[in-house]
Amino acid sequence: DDLYAVVGNPISHSKSPKIHSLFASQTGEAVDYTAIQAPLDGFSETVAEFFARGGKGLNVTVPFKEQAWGLADRRTARAEKAGAANTLYQDEGGKLVADNTDGQGLVSDLTDNHGLSLAGKHILVLGAGGAVRGVLGPILAQGPARLVIANRTLARAEALVALFADEAGTTELSACGFEQPAEPFDLIINGTSASLQGDLPPLAPAVISARTVVYDMMYAATTTTFNQWALDQGACQAIDGLGMLVEQAAESFKVWRGVSPATAAVIDRLRE
Ligand code: ATR
Repeated sequence: DDLYAVVGNPISHSKSPKIHSLFASQTGEAVDYTAIQAPLDGFSETVAEFFARGGKGLNVTVPFKEQAWGLADRRTARAEKAGAANTLYQDEGGKLVADNTDGQGLVSDLTDNHGLSLAGKHILVLGAGGAVRGVLGPILAQGPARLVIANRTLARAEALVALFADEAGTTELSACGFEQPAEPFDLIINGTSASLQGDLPPLAPAVISARTVVYDMMYAATTTTFNQWALDQGACQAIDGLGMLVEQAAESFKVWRGVSPATAAVIDRLRE
């Protein structure tokens, strides 16, 4: 079998080996996928060693996505703009290529799994860190009417607006602090790491209407703090990031194997 792995630190709780082994058995692809914990100061050595022993492809997770991006000889356009990579492989010439499938994973989950169209919509994105930078390009490519990036540190949201201005097309793209937006949005995506600590961005309830869908890029066994807050304010639907996790994995599998696995049954299995 061809060897693949996910690299992170810590890595023991990663669901990627399970997801990819389900993809492999479903598609009949000869994929052996493991998890590797790299030392915090030893990411590049871990990557070099993996490919030296014949490894075909890596997924990269916290805290190494930016390092993976920096290590690559070449980057896909979507990885270039994301500033981080979650997918590595070698091209025919042995050059290390970095890709980023996170944004496509989010968009596939929203549009394919949940049937939501982003075109013409008003979207509020919370956060302006690496996770948000990684998904902005694919979201803008869907053609929302308006995309507001709200962040605790306004300057970081403004920097992302400047970085993605050339991909905005007809989308009205702007930045603000959490307290500022007071109009209802069609979709609110939480990309802050606040929910990890159970914190809530201090948003005005006016951002939620009965038509608002919220999406937390985090997932947990129970409803996330942010999603629960939004439901309490009357949001019509709250989605967590489990589908995004499976969809970014499917997109990586396609990059490596040229085969698109079906994801619905895999998401159901993980939800159990
Ligand atoms: P990641 O890779 O998860 O995006 P990051 O680049 O450190 O990590 O970004 C974390 C994001 O979560 C930032 O938008 C951060 O806000 P700041 O830019 O103001 O730091 C946001 N964040 C983290 N903890 C938060 C909290 N308790 N409340 C609100 N926002 C928070």
